[in-house]
Amino acid sequence: MERLTLSKKEFELFRHYIYEHIGISLGAQKIYLVQARLAKRVKLLHLNDFSEYYNILVNDKTGHELEYLCSLISTNVTSFFRESKQWEFWKNNLSTMMEKKNNKLRIWSAACSTGEEPYSIAMFLEENAPNIDIKILATDVSPRVLKEASGGIYSEKAVESLGNIYLNKYFNKVHHNENSVYTIDEKIKRHIVFRGFNLVTGNYDIFKEKKFDIIFCRNVMIYFDKPTQATLVQKFYNMLQPGGYLFIGSSEALTDIKTGFKSRSASIYQKV
Ligand SMILES: C[S@@+](CC[C@H](N)C(=O)[O-])C[C@H]1O[C@@H](n2cnc3c(N)ncnc32)[C@H](O)[C@@H]1O
Repeated sequence: MERLTLSKKEFELFRHYIYEHIGISLGAQKIYLVQARLAKRVKLLHLNDFSEYYNILVNDKTGHELEYLCSLISTNVTSFFRESKQWEFWKNNLSTMMEKKNNKLRIWSAACSTGEEPYSIAMFLEENAPNIDIKILATDVSPRVLKEASGGIYSEKAVESLGNIYLNKYFNKVHHNENSVYTIDEKIKRHIVFRGFNLVTGNYDIFKEKKFDIIFCRNVMIYFDKPTQATLVQKFYNMLQPGGYLFIGSSEALTDIKTGFKSRSASIYQKV
């Protein structure tokens, strides 16, 4: 099949659409990346060019094509217990954080990718605060990663950084042909609800009555421009309980964003 070329005009259309609907702001130099990622979809749908795909996208009222586009454009890289310093901070401050919490913690893993983050949160709490009532909401815009996340099946490579204590306690090893896979145990899964949610265009009214104690939004804001980040951070602020925490990625920061958050440690903020 002929190599598909994304014209500058087509790129501008996609660039604008992606910014409006996903919040990701792509620089002009990303034209080849967008071309490579979208070409897969154009071929899969047996279309002739990118313009045909653009028409399908903007006319799709179900929102499914937008979700698919998100999977193509964003990076889903993640791992268990990513950002090790944050887990240390949490461990050292857990008892203070639990004061006045009535033994209940409500946590949101926003942009959870394939599930390693919410499962790490649940395992961490099982280990360090086994008797508390934990509810974790895990959301992502991409249906593909959410399907993997709720399946909770991981390769040997994905779990290699976890020690045997975690593997033996919280996973079941299943032999699959020549290889082994690891499935997350029900005692961890039961704490988590997976849902689709777009952080940029989603309707936050659905969270109205429910405030969170901790929000993890790590390694996704980096793709958004400053105004989008600022709007999102304000929404997180409103959705946290007084004294609640926001964990962001180590390459992200709230500098230049006016917020009521106080920095407590690297990439960890508290609503005061
Ligand atoms: C690099 S992963 C981060 C996963 C995890 N939080 C971590 O730090 O390891 C980024 C995730 O953000 C999701 N994402 C991108 N744009 C989004 C949006 N507008 N709303 C919700 N999720 C989004 C992607 O689908 C992807 O799974």
